[in-house]
Amino acid sequence: MDRDQATRQGPGFNRRDFLKGSGAAVAATAVTTAVVEQQAAAQQQAAKLVSAAPQAITLNVNGQDHKLTVEPRVTLMAALRDDLNLTGCKDVCDRANCGACTVLIDGKPVYSCTRFAIEVAGQKVVTAESLHTAEKTDLVVEKFCEHDGMQCGFCTPGFVMAVRGFCNAHPKATLDDCRKGLGGNICRCGTYAGVLQAAFDTAQAAN
Ligand code: FES
Ligand code: FES
Repeated sequence: MDRDQATRQGPGFNRRDFLKGSGAAVAATAVTTAVVEQQAAAQQQAAKLVSAAPQAITLNVNGQDHKLTVEPRVTLMAALRDDLNLTGCKDVCDRANCGACTVLIDGKPVYSCTRFAIEVAGQKVVTAESLHTAEKTDLVVEKFCEHDGMQCGFCTPGFVMAVRGFCNAHPKATLDDCRKGLGGNICRCGTYAGVLQAAFDTAQAAN
């Protein structure tokens, strides 16, 4: 009789049974832990889910609060254009490639096609419409006109907002700084020379 047989035949609980039993217990504990973790992850995920139903939000645009009811899938660009009739932000690529939809959010240039309107509630949105009013024309607009920074004009509102945001953050920027800083906006007409000169002049005029 080998040692295993002797061990098996001995009275009560033997070492092999113990090892088998403890292995099963460890496996069962691991399965239970994995299930509990998955349940916790699923609960966290469910807590993050947003209902598809329209929601009432307040958008602060150009210093004014606007109460809107929008579905969560609606982008800021769509809310501005379709709900508030602020069509300065242009719907060109709708996928963060061209910059034609640029607005400022809390002072920073952002592609409005990449944000949901409900995300932006509570932040300050500034659009191209704010740069030219009956009382005041922003220097960026004047410099675009002076340097002939537009042809078809389709990219222009987005470029103007990108320049305004860039110059706010980088007063006294060089021409090369402007070229790098405005790399997120595309002009199909190729008016880059005028746009860059307008940005440079605006930056140099900053205090
Ligand atoms: S329309 Fe938003 S980046 Fe082109
Ligand atoms: S002026 Fe036409 S796309 Fe820029």
